[in-house]
Amino acid sequence: MSGFSADWLALRAPADARARAPELTKRLAAFCAGRDRLRVLDLGSGTGSNLRFLAPRLKMAQSWTLVDHDEALLEQAAASEVPAGVEVSCRRLDLAGDLGRLDFSDVDLVTASALMDLVSADWFDSLAAACRAAGCAVFFVLTYDGVMAWRPSDRLDPLIRELFNRHQGEDKGFGPALGPEAPKHMARAFIAEGFRVETAPSDWLIETGERELHLALLEGFLAAAEEIAPARTEELRDWAARRRRLAARPEARLRVGHEDLFAFPSES
Ligand SMILES: C[S@@+](CC[C@H](N)C(=O)[O-])C[C@H]1O[C@@H](n2cnc3c(N)ncnc32)[C@H](O)[C@@H]1O
Repeated sequence: MSGFSADWLALRAPADARARAPELTKRLAAFCAGRDRLRVLDLGSGTGSNLRFLAPRLKMAQSWTLVDHDEALLEQAAASEVPAGVEVSCRRLDLAGDLGRLDFSDVDLVTASALMDLVSADWFDSLAAACRAAGCAVFFVLTYDGVMAWRPSDRLDPLIRELFNRHQGEDKGFGPALGPEAPKHMARAFIAEGFRVETAPSDWLIETGERELHLALLEGFLAAAEEIAPARTEELRDWAARRRRLAARPEARLRVGHEDLFAFPSES
């Protein structure tokens, strides 16, 4: 078990699809065009949401390898419907300990969605070096950047954001996580490896119609904040109670900042 349930991944998938930076998806499709078959490695694939979004937009024959350590999520991914000409295989692997067991030499594109804020700087740098050695392109989307903005606002919002961001920096299995520093770190690491890097915002904008996702996020932020500041539990729970009431109002909005990154070796 990874701590990411299939239900949670399904709940966030529509907000993810809407948030992705369309211009970077188009850049990726243009970059890949003209190949006979694109070989794609999807890291931390979960149930295959990244595959379901990208495969139809790449408009070419593709072979995807989905990698995750959660067998149950991979089973769902294997059952996904994919466009004609797209082959999918699943591989169960602990990316934290066993990144070195992945062979990048037969890969054209390494991709991941909603993964890179969980990994450590050292782990990420090893991945960037492996991508450079193999000469593959990279497409890492929906990486959290530390922004959390609510409407209407509440006086405790800045504290919650600060506590959540500290929690995001804790070890998620890969060593101290990049958390909100991930977008900047990724760009620096790929530039240092000689890649050309393009980035674009892919913020979640959660509006009145998505109350279930709004409330699920609220509970996740509360749980993280309580773990970091248990002495302030009462104050934090009062904030959550106010926020649950605000979430019912028609003007309720939540923005969660993300960034998408497309990078490719500069000689390609
Ligand atoms: C936030 S979810 C994103 C899933 C999917 N990419 C999506 O966008 O729906 C992070 C994924 O990374 C996987 N993961 C976390 N740590 C991992 C590890 N050490 N090895 C392999 N997969 C891992 C989880 O099982 C989960 O599926």
